[in-house]
Amino acid sequence: MDKSNLLNVSNLKKTFIKKSGTFLKRKKTEVYAVNNINLEVKKGEILGIIGESGCGKTTTARMIMRLMKETEGEISFEGVNLCNLKDSETNKIRKKMQMIFQDPYDTLNPGMRILDILMEPINAHEKNLPYQAKYQRVVEAIEAIELRPAEDFIHRYPHQLSGGQRQRIAIARAIILKPSFIAADEPTSMLDVSVRAGILNLLLDLRKKMGLTMMFITHDLSTASYMCDRIAVMYQGKIVEIGPTKKIIHKPSHPYTKALVAVVKDLNHFIKNREKLILDGEVDSTKEEKGCPFVSRCPHKEDICHSQVPNLEAIDNGHSVSCHCHTELLERTS
Ligand SMILES: Nc1ncnc2c1ncn2[C@@H]1O[C@H](COP(=O)(O)OP(=O)(O)O)[C@@H](O)[C@H]1O
Ligand SMILES: [Mg+2]
Repeated sequence: MDKSNLLNVSNLKKTFIKKSGTFLKRKKTEVYAVNNINLEVKKGEILGIIGESGCGKTTTARMIMRLMKETEGEISFEGVNLCNLKDSETNKIRKKMQMIFQDPYDTLNPGMRILDILMEPINAHEKNLPYQAKYQRVVEAIEAIELRPAEDFIHRYPHQLSGGQRQRIAIARAIILKPSFIAADEPTSMLDVSVRAGILNLLLDLRKKMGLTMMFITHDLSTASYMCDRIAVMYQGKIVEIGPTKKIIHKPSHPYTKALVAVVKDLNHFIKNREKLILDGEVDSTKEEKGCPFVSRCPHKEDICHSQVPNLEAIDNGHSVSCHCHTELLERTS
């Protein structure tokens, strides 16, 4: 195993059973939410996970953070396999891995003051610290997320804060135990556009100051290109392309990545040979695997795409793609 990796995920799968139909005619369908994912996160980097709604981004993060058990696969963090740990051992690891969720209105307990919300993780993991030291930690965390002076915020309830301020408190809660890894699941998608950049810059700033490693989940390629060192593109529970951000933006190889790049107008000036491609249809993770998951929406499909699942293959240094036709596509666009 590569020592520069903080996290290694191998052959990770999660299947849900979806029930539908009437009382007399119950129907059960398997949903392949995460379907055999392999990835690594290097120490100090921000790995982006991008893909449209329902492609399995949150499920992947929840399994890594041990908020959900995997159906199959292995997750190793700092060399420790997280999948076979006892609850008490998982609890210890939690101190080092924290998650920031999408909805700051949902994640902060409305009946608790900010002081109590931020004391909670300290009391769970460092309860023997004297009260004054714990209080000082809370003040420092609030200042680190740039709500100053901290004393103005510490006694407030979440409803007395704006959406952006709430998300900052959620970030303070995530960093208060000085973790080494943070998974941020679409942390700005529920916020007003005007405060989004502030939150993104805060995360970049904290990463630098605290030496954090991050997994940054988003459905928006321009946000991913701003935040991430590498990007993994997910489609229907699979990684269809992964590589350095520049390669994914300038030289997308999978037809799905090409489509994502093509719709990001802000990036137009970066892209010389962009394809005009409109994505029709929706993600459907309930079908048995026969061919490429993207086949029903792909404008370049060949016969083989219907019958064989493509492997994720290296095409360049650190850049891999899962597409039977990527070489022909490359020739056509170069
Ligand atoms: N608890 C659950 N029970 C059943 N199906 C679920 C559950 N959580 C997620 N799913 C399904 O798994 C798929 C992936 O969901 P999710 O990981 O939330 O996607 P994303 O975060 O990319 O929008 C979707 O089809 C979703 O409906
Ligand atoms: Mg999600």
